[in-house]
Amino acid sequence: MYPLVRMTDFPPAMLDAVRSARHVVALTGAGVSAESGVPTFRDAQTGLWAKYDPMELATPEAFARDPALVSRWYDERRQMRLTTQPNPGHHALVRWEALQRAGGESFTLLTQNVDRLHHAAGSVNVVELHGSLMVWRCTACGEEREELGPAFQQHPPRCGTCGGTRRPGVVWFGEALPGQALEAAFDALRRCDLFLTIGTSAVVHPAASFLHDAAEHGAATIEINRDHTPASDVVGWTLRAKSGEALPAMLDAAFG
Ligand code: APR
Repeated sequence: MYPLVRMTDFPPAMLDAVRSARHVVALTGAGVSAESGVPTFRDAQTGLWAKYDPMELATPEAFARDPALVSRWYDERRQMRLTTQPNPGHHALVRWEALQRAGGESFTLLTQNVDRLHHAAGSVNVVELHGSLMVWRCTACGEEREELGPAFQQHPPRCGTCGGTRRPGVVWFGEALPGQALEAAFDALRRCDLFLTIGTSAVVHPAASFLHDAAEHGAATIEINRDHTPASDVVGWTLRAKSGEALPAMLDAAFG
């Protein structure tokens, strides 16, 4: 049976691990953004997209086959994201990072999310493992632009510099993660003494293996997830709760 923690009685050893951590690494997934109204990647697709499997759309092959369709799907998600705000889970991670930095300690946020809600909340040391929905990259000249405006006039959008086709600046299935992001992640994992996996199904690698890397280096490990995941059976403690509730409550219990 995995070490299930109720929100009403955080184990003292877990709170000690939170208080004494010198190098915190938090891995976040779509569950952290869910309370901002951003559907998780594996939530049932709705409306026009109900007939599509997101795993089918989030691939280089899908973009090559139908760039307009894939561009429209990502642009709709981009537009929806512009109507959302960070939730208490995002803000709790900002508070925690500030507490760590004030104490001369470190806090690294590794996110699989492409919505930049961590940035919007004020997180500073954020590593985007899977890129960002808000950035679109020219497939010809490589120019990248952050798109915070209205819907694109055409799909896929054109590069203003060379006229080439622009694609979402996200990592698709089958593509390598950005080298700099991976390097930053492994550097943080080597130093970390407390690792949290928050709101992720823990099934997509390499992010899903970070928990094991951290544990191998002796880090204490905590999961916060609404549901059971493969990580639940190997972490030190698992909080079966929404991240927007568990993170603030855990920090209040640990730091007052
Ligand atoms: N609080 C905590 N956990 C939640 C909440 C919540 N409010 N809502 C949902 N969850 C959990 C779900 O139970 C699930 O375990 O968050 C997890 C979301 O899992 P996924 O939808 O698979 O998203 P994620 O883990 O981020 O996916 C990883 O794979 O889908 C690709 O590239 C995509 O970055 C994504 C990666």
